[in-house]
Amino acid sequence: MDPRLNIIDKRLDGIKKLIAVSGGKGGIGKSLTASVLALTLSRLGYEVGLLDLDLSAPSTHVILGIEGLYPEEEKGIVPSEVHHVKFMSIVYFTGDNPAPLRGIDISNAMLELLVVTRWGALDFLIVDMPPGVGDAMMDVIRWTRI
Ligand SMILES: Nc1ncnc2c1ncn2[C@@H]1O[C@H](COP(=O)(O)OP(=O)(O)OP(=O)(O)O)[C@@H](O)[C@H]1O
Ligand SMILES: [Mg+2]
Repeated sequence: MDPRLNIIDKRLDGIKKLIAVSGGKGGIGKSLTASVLALTLSRLGYEVGLLDLDLSAPSTHVILGIEGLYPEEEKGIVPSEVHHVKFMSIVYFTGDNPAPLRGIDISNAMLELLVVTRWGALDFLIVDMPPGVGDAMMDVIRWTRI
């Protein structure tokens, strides 16, 4: 078994509820839903994280107006806090450049993001998923046991 799966268990240990926003098609409002859900739950007083797992076309940073941020590195990556939401995305590392990944490389990059991110205690982790209910969705269900 991939030893990183045990690390993910530890990284997600302090999270009470994980909500993955997914859908069978592209452009149907997943990223907007994930972003507004994160902001709304935060405004209601919950501790919230938002993880953008749409690696080839991340967009929640655009919706939230995030620019020029880089997360803290401390025995992993500590997500930056934006509008009282802890935010993690591949854009911290790729900036405006595309991340042309395929097949197992997509799985590995998603796995790495889950392994490095130190969320701490959260009431909700909202995950913005790539379009479709294929490999990425299956991976996340398997890794996070949601
Ligand atoms: N409820 C809505 N009413 C009107 N427009 C919307 C609504 N939700 C999203 N949109 C618009 O539709 C477009 C696609 O939304 P969004 O990026 O959230 O979709 P997505 O499902 O995440 O797309 P992708 O599959 O490309 O990641 C955006 O321009 C967004 O502003
Ligand atoms: Mg999207």
